[in-house]
Amino acid sequence: MATSSSCSLRSILFSSPTNLRSNYSAPKNRLTCSSSSYSASRFESFSVSSIGTGSTSRRLSHTRRKVLEVRSMATTAEEKKKRVEIYDLEENLAVDLAKFTADLSDKFCKERGAFTVVVSGGSLIKSLRKLVESPYADSIDWARWHFFWVDERVVPKEHDDSNYKLAYDGFLSKVPIPAGNVYAINESLSAEAAADDYETCLKHLVKTNILRVSETTGFPKFDLMLLGMGPDGHVASLFPGHGLCNENKKWVVSITDSPKPPSERITFTFPVINSSAHVALVVCGSGKAEAVQAALKKTGTVPPAGSVSAEEELVWFLDKPASSKL
Ligand code: 6PG
Repeated sequence: MATSSSCSLRSILFSSPTNLRSNYSAPKNRLTCSSSSYSASRFESFSVSSIGTGSTSRRLSHTRRKVLEVRSMATTAEEKKKRVEIYDLEENLAVDLAKFTADLSDKFCKERGAFTVVVSGGSLIKSLRKLVESPYADSIDWARWHFFWVDERVVPKEHDDSNYKLAYDGFLSKVPIPAGNVYAINESLSAEAAADDYETCLKHLVKTNILRVSETTGFPKFDLMLLGMGPDGHVASLFPGHGLCNENKKWVVSITDSPKPPSERITFTFPVINSSAHVALVVCGSGKAEAVQAALKKTGTVPPAGSVSAEEELVWFLDKPASSKL
């Protein structure tokens, strides 16, 4: 396996950086159901006429979640690949997100001997907590994982704003992913140089066949991208109305005027995100309900999250409060 040290990217720090400490705490069932617009009973699957015009429903093998298959009349290829899962409890969302990720890990490790996984910052990392517990902690082939960030703040790795630190504390410190397979940014560079450096690293990984390339777009094709969404509907560091949302050539870009602090970041572009084989968009909390509505129902000004797609499968994992305006 190639390691990051063979990239122009600086050697990856994986050992615990100075002052890093584990702040992981046991998951709590902190999210409660709120009333919603569903007419279906709490544990039934249901049809969703409010999304598109040709929605279908199906009964699930277990009843703790609801699945919306989002299909519009136009039934574009993109819409067919998209589904929305809604959970009464965030705890159950975390359980299914772990299984979803573990199943893909199993598939790709067997099929191609590697699993390329991208994470965002924010609450996503906490939503991945079940993956580092039994049975997955021992059954996943962690040695074949290659771990990336969809965006990163240009701050030292031990800084509280660092997405590396967030992922290290809540995930990486708990599983045996080889240090050379963890691709952190070189935060000692300027944001622009760090973005170029990360793109160079990705290109090296394409050459060494760790990372695939989409036959359709020519952009890198990650096996799984795990994304959060901000209350304004941003994903990665692609913010509403920002010109970077339209970037269609570069793989990784810098932003120095991020409306969400800190201002200096690097981020994957939409062509990279949307060339992924599988994308999970994990969104919890009522504060995101309006953005979820706008992104999924394409109402009003559609936020960046509404532009996310995947080559094979896009799954929205929502808790009930986040889905309350659907
Ligand atoms: C970042 C993140 C960002 C995050 C969303 C959601 O570095 O800022 O990658 O895209 O995922 O803002 O964050 P929350 O889940 O914490 O709201």
